[in-house]
Amino acid sequence: MAKKTIEDIQVNGKTVLVRVDFNVPMEDGRITDDNRIRQAIPTLKYLLDQNAKVVCFSHLGRIKSEDDKAKNSLRVVSETLSEQLNQPVTFIPETRGETLENAIKALKTKEILMFENTRFEDIDGKRESKNDPELGRYWASLGDVFVNDAFGTAHRAHASNVGIASNIEVSVAGKLLEKEIDFLGGAIENPKRPFVAILGGAKVSDKIGVIRNLLTIADMILVGGGMSYTFLKAQGFEIGTSLVENDKIELAKSLLDEAQGKIVLPKDYKLTKEFSNEAPYRIARYDQFTPDEMGLDVGTETIEMYKELLSNAQTVVWNGPVGVFEFSNYAEGTKAICEILGNAKDTITIIGGGDSASAAINFGYEQAFTHISTGGGASLEYLEGKDLPGVSCLSDR
Ligand code: 3PG
Repeated sequence: MAKKTIEDIQVNGKTVLVRVDFNVPMEDGRITDDNRIRQAIPTLKYLLDQNAKVVCFSHLGRIKSEDDKAKNSLRVVSETLSEQLNQPVTFIPETRGETLENAIKALKTKEILMFENTRFEDIDGKRESKNDPELGRYWASLGDVFVNDAFGTAHRAHASNVGIASNIEVSVAGKLLEKEIDFLGGAIENPKRPFVAILGGAKVSDKIGVIRNLLTIADMILVGGGMSYTFLKAQGFEIGTSLVENDKIELAKSLLDEAQGKIVLPKDYKLTKEFSNEAPYRIARYDQFTPDEMGLDVGTETIEMYKELLSNAQTVVWNGPVGVFEFSNYAEGTKAICEILGNAKDTITIIGGGDSASAAINFGYEQAFTHISTGGGASLEYLEGKDLPGVSCLSDR
């Protein structure tokens, strides 16, 4: 990677500020998916092994009120982190001030502390999210070096990444950030071919930039999920009550024109009259919808087509489920992709974060992929070919 990483610097005895992305899903105060915490462990362990004093911090949720603060403390995250590191993590429930400063001064080598949600600074003036220069300077003053391992937040220019990096001498990538850039960057800059992208999810509007960029790079784009109905409608087919973005139909037409056959749509769908797992469904071809039916998953012919089209792919990047996988009756297409890619041992298989990453992990395929990104928005922006401020702010090699 063109940026310096933790292996390029000496951290022995130094106070190292580590930005992680522990914006993990929570329900009733419990973490429901700790993947982002697990993925940060190699960086933190490495720094502790190298005798650093580690100060780690993250955002959690979006903070607009005192109520948001109460629901989004990082205390519980610091407890999970401590279990996974197998060592104490001192939690400081502040984002600035004497208590925090004294705790940092008291840190010994091989010790780690975590401070409170960086977005608590947003409550009266969005200091974190607007990259307030004073806040970036202040946080930078708390340590000797900055390590950014928060790939999931790399598409944001906030005080806790860009702000710190602009005010400290050395800023480097952590191991997770490096791995993300190596895999996602490798796929779009120098893919082994054939390179196939699979794009699903609800909205065309979320994926316009990715489709445009991948049309110039990928050999084929399999478009499924909710956004495929807008493409069907753009070709004049009946799509019944399926999800559609009417204001994106012209755009879908122009993308199909630009694609010159590179965009492949499903051949058949699972159709039903109600958005529920209980209502009866049938499988029908893409041109057989009745006006009262909606598609909620791809059909069996499409799954067979995916098997064939993916059989000789050398690189596959997947972003977005191809059906409503939260309903067991409509999870088949998404599960089939997990299985096909999970068994493609000689293929580089990458999931670009978000719902398809949670689907693959929930269906038990976590180990079967070459790389599952921890970034949803960040990997989409990276696949769009955009510059990520949380990466560009780091020191060059
Ligand atoms: C994410 O979950 O995509 C990142 O943590 C960024 O969160 P944000 O969209 O609230 O900035």
